Amino acid sequence: MMKKMFALLMMLALLMPAGILLAHHGPKDVVFSVRMGDVTFPHGAHQDEQKIDCATCHHTGLETPKCRDCHGVKEGAPKPKDAFHKLCRSCHQDQSGPTGCADCHKK
Ligand code: HEC
Ligand code: HEC
Ligand code: HEC
Ligand code: HEC
Repeated sequence: MMKKMFALLMMLALLMPAGILLAHHGPKDVVFSVRMGDVTFPHGAHQDEQKIDCATCHHTGLETPKCRDCHGVKEGAPKPKDAFHKLCRSCHQDQSGPTGCADCHKK
């Protein structure tokens, strides 16, 4: 029993720092300034509270994390508006989260 407890504690001790590092990787909020109205994306909350896997949104990995490096620029990458609406709104529709225009776009 004690041995098992010790092993568990050791595992936690090893996993914790990695978990904290990952959980706080990237900005807390990302603001997209667009004509329709600024969208404030609570990046940190999607990591820490919604516990969404990085790869759900960062499909190409984190080496080139700026979506607009490709979207709207590179051939084959859908326009940012289409990509974001698909990614953000469809998950909110399926689970929960804002889906109305003015819920995300604030003038
Ligand atoms: C729900 C979608 C979503 C999830 C989940 C997510 N991210 Fe992000 N992340 C974004 C978006 C969108 C940006 C803004 C990119 C931009 O400005 O073009 C971003 C930005 C970042 C940036 C900053 C990039 C820069 O140069 O400004 C880092 C670092 C990052 N994310 C790491 C992570 C890590 C690590 C995880 C998982 C623990 C994660 N993200 C989970 C959507 C997400
Ligand atoms: C290195 C280039 C590159 C980067 C960086 C990139 N994307 Fe993409 N993305 C693509 C390409 C190319 C496609 C179309 C092919 C595919 O679906 O894989 C795509 C497709 C998508 C789709 C699917 C769209 C659809 O209509 O099915 C979503 C959603 C998406 N990207 C979101 C993002 C988000 C959010 C970011 C930033 C966190 C990002 N992408 C960063 C190149 C990129
Ligand atoms: C895989 C699922 C998923 C994806 C992808 C996702 N979200 Fe969310 N989002 C959620 C969930 C779950 C909530 C929490 C809803 C609640 O609290 O009821 C949320 C909440 C929010 C909120 C409200 C926060 C608050 O404090 O009220 C905003 C704004 C938001 N998301 C913006 C975005 C944007 C912008 C994107 C795309 C870059 C995005 N989300 C992508 C699942 C997702
Ligand atoms: C879940 C959050 C969310 C919801 C809901 C949402 N949007 Fe967006 N929208 C975004 C994000 C994120 C972008 C991409 C910003 C960028 O291009 O960098 C965007 C981009 C746009 C753009 C292109 C940028 C511009 O202003 O020229 C338009 C137009 C737009 N949205 C209109 C709408 C309309 C109309 C609705 C309601 C039917 C809506 N959006 C609902 C998050 C959202």
